[in-house]
Order: sequence, then C-alpha cells, then structure tokens
Amino acid sequence: MSMGPEPINLFDFEAAARERLPKVEYDYIAGGATDEISVERNRRAYESWALRPRVLHDVSALDLSTTVLGTKVSLPVLIAPCGGHQKAHPEGEFATYRAATTCGTVFAVSANAGADFEELAKAASGRRWLQLYPFRDKEMTKDWLRRAKDAGYEAVCLTLDSQWPSKRERNIRNGYRNLRGVNFPKAGGDAARGRPGAHPGGGDPAATWKDLEWIKSSTALPVVAKGIMTGEDAELCAQAGADAVIVSNHGGRHLDNTLATIEVLAEAVAAAKGKTEIYLDGGIRRGADVVKAIALGAKAVFIGRPLFWGLAVGGEQGVVRVLNILREEIELTMAKCGRPTIASIDATVVVKAPRL
Ligand SMILES: Cc1cc2nc3c(=O)[nH]c(=O)nc-3n(C[C@H](O)[C@H](O)[C@H](O)COP(=O)(O)O)c2cc1C
Repeated sequence: MSMGPEPINLFDFEAAARERLPKVEYDYIAGGATDEISVERNRRAYESWALRPRVLHDVSALDLSTTVLGTKVSLPVLIAPCGGHQKAHPEGEFATYRAATTCGTVFAVSANAGADFEELAKAASGRRWLQLYPFRDKEMTKDWLRRAKDAGYEAVCLTLDSQWPSKRERNIRNGYRNLRGVNFPKAGGDAARGRPGAHPGGGDPAATWKDLEWIKSSTALPVVAKGIMTGEDAELCAQAGADAVIVSNHGGRHLDNTLATIEVLAEAVAAAKGKTEIYLDGGIRRGADVVKAIALGAKAVFIGRPLFWGLAVGGEQGVVRVLNILREEIELTMAKCGRPTIASIDATVVVKAPRL
C-alpha cells in the first residue's frame, strides 16, 4: 500500500482505488443502473436509523462471531459474489479468498469469476459458497452443482435479480465490454444463446419459482436466494425451500429507483417468518451500518464494491484491511451500545431517526 496516506476507512479505500484503476474499470465497479438513485439511496438510508447508546454494560470482551447456515464466521460480514476480481488486482479471486480465510468469513464466488472455481477451492481453507443464476441450460446447472459440492463449496447462492440485462450508462458511454467468467463452457451453454447486448451469464429470462424449486431439489447443498426486495418474494423463497435470502438490489446495478435494502429488510424478515435466515447487502461501508442491519433483523451482511477497493489498493492485504476496519468499527459500535455479542444486538439498538 504505497502512495498517499494509509486509508483509515472504506471511503479512503475507494478514493485510493480510484487513483489506481483505469477510469473504465472504476466506473464499471462503482457504477449502477441509469440515474444511480438506488446506489445512493442504499448508502443514505442508513442515516434513517439512529443508534441508541447504552452505558454501564460490561463490554470488556466483545465477541463478533455468529453463524450463517449453521456454521461459524468470525464476524457478520461476508464477501458478496462479484465477477472479475482480477480487474482490480492480478491475483483476483485468489487474493480475495485468502483474505476471507484469514478473516474467518465466507467468500461467495461469482458465476462470473475470473478464476476456475475448482482451482480456487485449493488456494485456501476458508468457507466458500458458489453463486449461480437460474441458467436455461439445466445440464450445465447440474454439472456446476455437482462440481461445487465435490469441490467443498458449502452453499449455492442463486442470484434472481439479473434475468433481464441492466442499463448502466457509465459502461455505455465508456464502451465497456464485460467478459463472461472462465467457468462457463467455452462453446454452447447459456450465455452463448443470450440476447445480444445482455450482460453475460445473467440467467434465463423465462425462469420462474419452479426453477428455484428445481435447484433446491437438484442439490444437497443449502440454497441462498439473492436479490430479494419485497416481503412477497421473501415469502415465496421460503415456500420454494430456500435456506436463506439475501435482501439485495445488486448494489443498485440492475433496477434503479428501488428502496434501499435497509428499508425493505424488516418487511422481508417479517414475511420469512423465521423459515429462512435473512442477510442483506448494499452500501455497507461502516461498522455502524452492519450493526443497524443486524438490529433490524439481518443475520449477516455482505460487501461488494469495498472488496474491489481493497484489492486495488493492496491485493490480499488490502482486502484483509477492509474487513479489519469494518471489524474495528463494529466493535466500537457494539461497545458503545452496550452489546458484547452479536446475539445481544436487538431492535432496541436502533430507532427510526426523525427527519431533520
Ligand atoms: C463489480 C461488481 C460485480 C458484481 N458481480 C456480481 C455477480 O457476478 N453476481 C452477483 O450475484 N452479484 C454481483 N454483484 C453484486 C454484489 O454481489 C452485491 O449485491 C453488491 O455489490 C452489494 O452492494 P455494495 O457494492 O454496495 O456492497 C457485483 C457487484 C459489483 C460491484
């Protein structure tokens, strides 16, 4: 991490990454759909809840560990599935995976990863999930599901909000061409039959809830449904047998003008009626954001863009630093709210903030 002062928060990391990355790559990572209203709203909405500090609780020993899908992580921040980590650092997903292993968290490997997911599995010992789309090609899906299980992936993350391509105007203006991940078959397969201009490998536009049921019945791995933004869909995920739901608007990269993810979290939690775990992603940049999400019912959260900023600034160590900054900020927030454990973060930690 040379050049400039040491980043002390995730915004500093973004600024430093922006200096290092080619503009078109920075724009691809930072950007969102059309007017980027949802990108900004994901961030700003955290201000709609205030923390309620509590004093005289013993916070001398804090424990940030929790479980996701029944297995321990050392902090409630996981790595979201994102394609093409090598855009930010030559070691790409390998660096991210080693960092996630060091920090004791889950790495969700994207369908569009620039690394072979079976090779990646050998690079470290941490927990891994594999992200898929509801592909049109059922044989390819079965093949991925079988290979994921054999390679020790612990869950399948099914991204459901990408059936239709998005309109990302920074990419259009930059003439940006995104490539398919290396795990797709060289010839044939889903993406080769995709509509012209479609974001590569985004899933079958004809997919329905039956496809989620089919995937659930086609693997022994837990299925995590990603990209849910309403109570109705959270309930349908639970009915279709999903083991967990990620409340996500894809970081504002698919449909613009949605509510922020933190704004729909409570609705999703209520609709799932405890049948599935609920996670959240979108705009998590501060430890306080993580604590607010947990207080509002998330079991854990994911980060997307910040992992690229970490990679661009310092490769594996940069991602470790990003996670450690969040860890330190979560600790501070928990201590000052009198909550020594993740389980002790309940709804009374936050209050809806009055408009100023
Ligand atoms: C550069 C980039 C690539 C992404 N690629 C994928 C992907 O391949 N599959 C997927 O399900 N989500 C993908 N996402 C969305 C993330 O998983 C996540 O939902 C989002 O980034 C969270 O918001 P945040 O970036 O504000 O943390 C991508 C996000 C970014 C920034």
